[in-house]
Amino acid sequence: MKQILRLLCLLVTVFVMPAFGQSDSSEENGRAVFNEWCIHCHGEMDRGPLPGTFSLGIKYEGALPALLEERTDLAPEFIRIVVRGGLFGMPITRKTEVSDSELDDIIAYLTRNQ
Ligand code: HEC
Repeated sequence: MKQILRLLCLLVTVFVMPAFGQSDSSEENGRAVFNEWCIHCHGEMDRGPLPGTFSLGIKYEGALPALLEERTDLAPEFIRIVVRGGLFGMPITRKTEVSDSELDDIIAYLTRNQ
């Protein structure tokens, strides 16, 4: 009986628990990928202008935050199109650099407050 209970606990830990944490770990991974691939253009400008933050500051003239991480209006499909296709000064990001599932995680991170 004890062994069956132990086995049940193990099964719950391995198969059920990860399902609860899924969105969090997706966001966490998205933040890590963002920090690797996007932050050097879309980070804070405390050490001088960064192309992404600087351009978005001019584009929206303060009506929307210049920092992508502070936006609450970004549509998932818009992020996907801009990342894969580029936009003016923003270069394209290939699937060999940021995979589709990593891009899904970036999107989960950038839309976490919507
Ligand atoms: C080499 C610099 C650079 C990198 C790297 C970069 N961006 Fe950009 N990004 C820009 C610039 C510049 C713009 C502004 C384009 C414009 O003028 O409309 C921009 C715009 C955007 C926009 C459009 C926002 C809007 O409201 O118009 C999104 C979304 C975006 N970037 C997401 C990302 C993500 C996600 C990554 C990482 C995978 C990334 N960018 C990496 C430079 C960069």
